[in-house]
Amino acid sequence: MVEQGDPGDTPMPHDVRAAEPAPLTRLHHRHLLGLQTYSAEEIHLILDTAREFRRVLDRPIRRVPTLRGITVVNLFFEPSTRTRISFELAEKRLSADTVNFSASGSSVSKGETLKDTAQNIEAMKIDMVVVRHKSPGAPHFLTRCVDAVIVNAGDGAHEHPTQALLDMLTINDHFASFEGLNIAIIGDITHSRVARSNIHGLTKLGANVTLCGPPTLLPVGIEKLGVRVTHRLDEALEGCDVAMALRIQLERQGDSLFPSLREYHDRFGITLDHLAQYPDLLVMHPGPVNRGVELASDVVDHERAIILNQVTNGVATRMAVLYLLAGIADGDAG
Ligand code: CP
Repeated sequence: MVEQGDPGDTPMPHDVRAAEPAPLTRLHHRHLLGLQTYSAEEIHLILDTAREFRRVLDRPIRRVPTLRGITVVNLFFEPSTRTRISFELAEKRLSADTVNFSASGSSVSKGETLKDTAQNIEAMKIDMVVVRHKSPGAPHFLTRCVDAVIVNAGDGAHEHPTQALLDMLTINDHFASFEGLNIAIIGDITHSRVARSNIHGLTKLGANVTLCGPPTLLPVGIEKLGVRVTHRLDEALEGCDVAMALRIQLERQGDSLFPSLREYHDRFGITLDHLAQYPDLLVMHPGPVNRGVELASDVVDHERAIILNQVTNGVATRMAVLYLLAGIADGDAG
């Protein structure tokens, strides 16, 4: 697929797709707002495409002309290290024109609204918007304000679909199938967009998902999403293949929802003792890690923590998402 690109050509994404022999099909969606509405087949298509792009990233020249002529704006209203840099790298590796926007230092600080900001940026002829915003639903709102393709890079506590996709790609590197895989998601589920997207994605692919955390950080009725719930870490880790620890999001919590960070670590933090007790367990974390809270510092640096593999997979995953969405002019919204 992407290996066939001639750097001297300037094909549009649909031209590349028409020329390639691989049996890829289109996504049914025009935007990526969340995984709740994406099918298992669409998720597999993204993961398969990401694996193709990973081969590009392993080559001496890590660039293809696939999105030449496409302009992408990265609209970040919240801080980010991994998501923002990997989207920008993905865009550059695909030869797209990239513009970065941060709310701080922009006219948002003068009171300009999200709608006006987006419409003014679109007036400069952009094709795709990658947006992170503190308000759940902000990316959905943007689909009604602008014609550009919208990619959700995290909206409040709602969804963070590309994080879940890169998490699934990383899990798939270690396990051939998701069917019957036991995944524990541990920590602040209530405030976690990462948890929500992973729950939607992993359950669709056939994994057994267990949520674990203090009752104050687990939404009432979350079992309806097809997950098991426990408040005991050992119960979550027993028979578990992958433990996904979540960051304690102090900035999204109002009143303290647990007595102290130390007590949280004592009850829900993964330590070297857990790695010894469960010798096949792999540990993931979306970052940024609060060392000594969700994970003991030694666990973060342990070879069975595949946190940096997640970050590496972020670039190929975001290349796949941008590639698959870039050439689609019709289809279902969101
Ligand atoms: N995982 C994640 O979203 O990290 P950033 O906030 O640094 O982008």
